[in-house]
Amino acid sequence: MRRTRILAAVGAGALLLGLAACGDSKDSSDSGKDSTGGKQVEVFTWWTSGSEALGLEEIEKVLKDKYPDIKFVNGGVTGGGGSAKDLLQTRLAAGEPPDTFQVHAGKEAQDYIDAKQVEDVSDLYDRFGLTDVFPQDLIDMLTQDGKIYTIPSNVHRANVLWAAIPVLEAAGLPTDSAQFASIDEFIAALDKIKAATPDVTPLSVGGTWCQVHLLETVLIAELGAPAYNGLFDGSTDWAGAEVKGALEKFGKLMSYTNADRDSMDWEPASQMLLDGKAAFNIMGDWVPALLDSKNLVAGKDYLYAASPGTEGIYDFLADSFSRTVGAPDKAGAEAWLDVISSKEGQIGFNKVKGSIPARTDIDLAAEGFSEYQQSAAESFKSDTIVGSIQHGAAATIKQGADANNAVSKFTTGAMDAAGLATLQQELAAAFAG
Ligand code: BGC
Repeated sequence: MRRTRILAAVGAGALLLGLAACGDSKDSSDSGKDSTGGKQVEVFTWWTSGSEALGLEEIEKVLKDKYPDIKFVNGGVTGGGGSAKDLLQTRLAAGEPPDTFQVHAGKEAQDYIDAKQVEDVSDLYDRFGLTDVFPQDLIDMLTQDGKIYTIPSNVHRANVLWAAIPVLEAAGLPTDSAQFASIDEFIAALDKIKAATPDVTPLSVGGTWCQVHLLETVLIAELGAPAYNGLFDGSTDWAGAEVKGALEKFGKLMSYTNADRDSMDWEPASQMLLDGKAAFNIMGDWVPALLDSKNLVAGKDYLYAASPGTEGIYDFLADSFSRTVGAPDKAGAEAWLDVISSKEGQIGFNKVKGSIPARTDIDLAAEGFSEYQQSAAESFKSDTIVGSIQHGAAATIKQGADANNAVSKFTTGAMDAAGLATLQQELAAAFAG
């Protein structure tokens, strides 16, 4: 069942980068550098601050330990996935690829496979003994024509609601659970926050990509998992009444958010909870690492729950890496892939980052993973899995970019009925065909 759901979310398509495939990328064989004597690896990610940067440092430590001769070159860029992916495209098109880059499993990875920008790394699965250590569903998402193209470093959940207990207390809201059965119930709580604590933002959100992230959780809640998955195989109509209703709820939620949202990435938006400036935040489970780094304690200082109306559903995404076609230093890329897929690498990295290891042979309790992470791992095993739009599991890069443009137009506009109608048309166009 789970497998079908993930695969349904991934589907085929992903034609955007096909153009680049015929164009500028160089094959590693003609990159002009010795691929066997590599002494460095340039790793391109958007993990540049907070727990993300710390997670990267953990992998770097394991790399240093295991491959002391290979220098880690941090090719990270700030600004979140959207701008990072744009910059990556520019570099790939200019024939200046990093040795390896962060890519989401699913349709996003499929884009790079179709564009022949990532190499077949099936040989490394054999060499590093990885064939049986990842969930088969995940491997299927990374495979084409029997070849596996990327190696997952972690699994994240996108549909999580985070709540600041002191703010809930001040507004007289329950402080034992942040689980809301529906978006409507959640809206009732936001109204209470607004009335009781007018200086507090009921729902904090960051810039456009965070708003698309919020939108996908509303679509999941309002449509349910099967109809949400249907958005990506044509069986659910983006232009239909169900999506219209969901978009109206999204518009309503946006009216409870901070006015300065477009100036911030996810971290400052989540930070508003820590500062008592916001009650709720819907964001992926890279948030607990931020909360824990400030010594906040789940259950005492903050609550987490599946985002409103999505209990029992796991909005999935996974980061993965490959050898870039034309990588200046293939050996460096391979060392990196060895490290990120190793037990040590996945433990060190994921413990700090908040995600769960993609490997299934790690005992999270024994390795000291947090309670949240242990619960996320359980949910990942038992919940219904759907793919994230914003984080590339269910949407191609172009679909994601178009969705970002559509949402930005709406949320920087009047957020009225006309805006909603345009948003729906533009989303329908983004996912058509
Ligand atoms: C990535 C995560 C990252 C998050 C916020 C997601 O797209 O998959 O690894 O923590 O963006 O930057």
